[in-house]
Amino acid sequence: MKIISIINQKGGVGKTTTVINLASALSQLGKKILIIDLDPQGNATTGLGISNMESSEQTIYGILNGAKEISDVIRKTKFQNLDLITSNVDLSGIEVETAGDNDRAFILSIKLSAYLNDSSASYDYVLIDCPPSLSLLTVMALVASNSLLVPLQTEFFALEGLTQLMKTIERIKIRLNPKLNIQGILLTMYDRRNKLSSQVESEARNYFKNKVYQTVIPRNVRLSEAPSHGVPVLVYDKNCPGSKSYYNFTNEFINQENKIGSAA
Ligand SMILES: Nc1ncnc2c1ncn2[C@@H]1O[C@H](COP(=O)(O)OP(=O)(O)OP(=O)(O)O)[C@@H](O)[C@H]1O
Ligand SMILES: [Mg+2]
Repeated sequence: MKIISIINQKGGVGKTTTVINLASALSQLGKKILIIDLDPQGNATTGLGISNMESSEQTIYGILNGAKEISDVIRKTKFQNLDLITSNVDLSGIEVETAGDNDRAFILSIKLSAYLNDSSASYDYVLIDCPPSLSLLTVMALVASNSLLVPLQTEFFALEGLTQLMKTIERIKIRLNPKLNIQGILLTMYDRRNKLSSQVESEARNYFKNKVYQTVIPRNVRLSEAPSHGVPVLVYDKNCPGSKSYYNFTNEFINQENKIGSAA
């Protein structure tokens, strides 16, 4: 069992799309997946066809404010092997509401490990969809995770934010979670006709070397249509370029996992 946060404080870079489609592809391969929507926008929730307008107690908010246990709020999705903890806009209040709690960065980590250690639920992967900021919620995710997957939009400014993210990760490693590592960087919204895309790609590969996945996610309109139907693109149109790229990425991810597993 492994907890992976999909993280980048820059907005709209493909975090949620990556969470939904990696989860979907892994679940189709028989892996048991739990997605935690840790973003008050609730995009992973609605993207999987579940309302983000329901009682906040039944969401990740209920867990972080102490009202609920993880087992109370896990929801089945209509997809096999794929469960979800939902989120809604009330989650944005958690930072203010927990202001007096010195250990608040650990809440998610503690609740999650208690649940995973005790329960009979045997997830292979927990994927956490982070909000676009380096706020408390993101810190909670960093503390709770084994590793991080960073979607990087192949656009100007993409690499600037990454430096800040890497500094934050280093700080968390030193102080709060020494075992945290970077699973990989996934290039997203790649446009072959745009020179900038290939420039950002080569800069990222030069700098982060083999941390950058070989698979690149192209810009593909089917990827942006799928969430409005409440399904992963792999279900919406499994043959479109976006789906193919997420299947390829998932294969690469699994090969990487197998290598890590056999080295351990
Ligand atoms: N490869 C792609 N091609 C085209 N559109 C995409 C692609 N990936 C994501 N999108 C669309 O771009 C928008 C942003 O993607 P997404 O929501 O996954 O990013 P995000 O990083 O989770 O955003 P936020 O920071 O707001 O949480 C969405 O409308 C999504 O459908
Ligand atoms: Mg998102």
